[in-house]
Amino acid sequence: MESEVITKAVSERYAHAVTNGEEMCCPTGYDHEDLRSFIPEPVLKVSYGCGTPVGLSTVQPGETVLDIGSGGGIDCFEASRRVGPTGRVIGIDMTDEMLALARTHAPTVAKNLGYAESNVDFRKGQAEAMPVKNEDVDLIVSNCVINLSPDKPKVFQEMFRILRPGGRFSISDIVSDHSIPNYMIHDKEKWGDCLSGALPLHEYWGGLRAAGFLGIHQVNLIPWRVIDGIHFLSITLTGYKLTTPTTTASKFATLKGPFSQITDELGQTFTRGIPESINPQTATLLQTPLYENLFVFSETPEKLTESDPRWSSILPEDSDCMWAGDFAMLTGPCLEARDDDGHTFHCGVPLEICSKTHRVLQHGAYQPYFGVINRAMQPSSHEAIICEPTGGCC
Ligand SMILES: C[S@@+](CC[C@H](N)C(=O)[O-])C[C@H]1O[C@@H](n2cnc3c(N)ncnc32)[C@H](O)[C@@H]1O
Repeated sequence: MESEVITKAVSERYAHAVTNGEEMCCPTGYDHEDLRSFIPEPVLKVSYGCGTPVGLSTVQPGETVLDIGSGGGIDCFEASRRVGPTGRVIGIDMTDEMLALARTHAPTVAKNLGYAESNVDFRKGQAEAMPVKNEDVDLIVSNCVINLSPDKPKVFQEMFRILRPGGRFSISDIVSDHSIPNYMIHDKEKWGDCLSGALPLHEYWGGLRAAGFLGIHQVNLIPWRVIDGIHFLSITLTGYKLTTPTTTASKFATLKGPFSQITDELGQTFTRGIPESINPQTATLLQTPLYENLFVFSETPEKLTESDPRWSSILPEDSDCMWAGDFAMLTGPCLEARDDDGHTFHCGVPLEICSKTHRVLQHGAYQPYFGVINRAMQPSSHEAIICEPTGGCC
């Protein structure tokens, strides 16, 4: 299907929904009671997001935030509150009816927040060609929009262009656990329902990385719907447009665990306990959230042994295991990671795991790096399998 046909169908769908005050879409987590204190009801009524990308406690007063596909304006208005009167918010949307609603209520929100004037600028435009200057933005947010774009690589490139070096994104979107079949892709209606355009998780990551983003990891993952065996998930991701210092204090990084080996997004592999020389770009990358927890940084090579209190290893318990239909997905930031039971996880690719591995991944040290879905369509008999004495059962 032509991109223009998809875009037109999506815009008409949302124009119709907002005109009729229709309730649509996905699981969101904003506390409407709290938002009601400053956001008018007609905006809350057409909240069509699938997450809380502006719920970031890292949003700083004075920042410039841009919302891709701002709709009725809910995320822009929450961002307006968080950046304060000295900050700026830009909302981009392609649908006139959405922009009209958001612009109507902007002065009321400003008044409720005690601002002299609104700090939100709603602009008409496409996510694939945003009407925004290069490097103008500190933080990009988006709530359930990028799946609707027929040209996601272009959206990711645009995000990278408008973000200042050192900036970050926080996006909630619908993704899938595997490729969407053609009969869904060529169904105009299902584009507007956030189904046809959902990318498999690993492709979403690949698109962001290809655009230049790094440190990409999951903040939240909520299973949404299962249609014809395809799992649709609401995911909130964050990632960075990193700056590279010319010098750095840390010249070596030693993986301390719980993974026995990882490969970072720049392609460098680290084995637990073995110090690796790192360049300034890698040093910057490894100091972003989730990487940072995995490493010891040092000026000179520092080897770790099992007896070192910083060494971390989580072994499965010594019991039988069961297969219950669980699949684990590594949700960043590493490209690849290996556990102590011989599993190699690839970012965004589901791997079937047994009950013992499931318990291991629920451990606090592993949990932030994984999402687990259950693909069993019917209850399984849960027959216990006796594990090999030398290793795991999966
Ligand atoms: C599911 S709604 C989400 C709206 C808002 N983010 C929220 O959470 O309520 C999708 C919005 O994105 C806009 N949109 C979809 N694709 C777009 C694109 N390619 N460029 C600009 N806006 C787009 C639609 O017009 C609609 O307002």
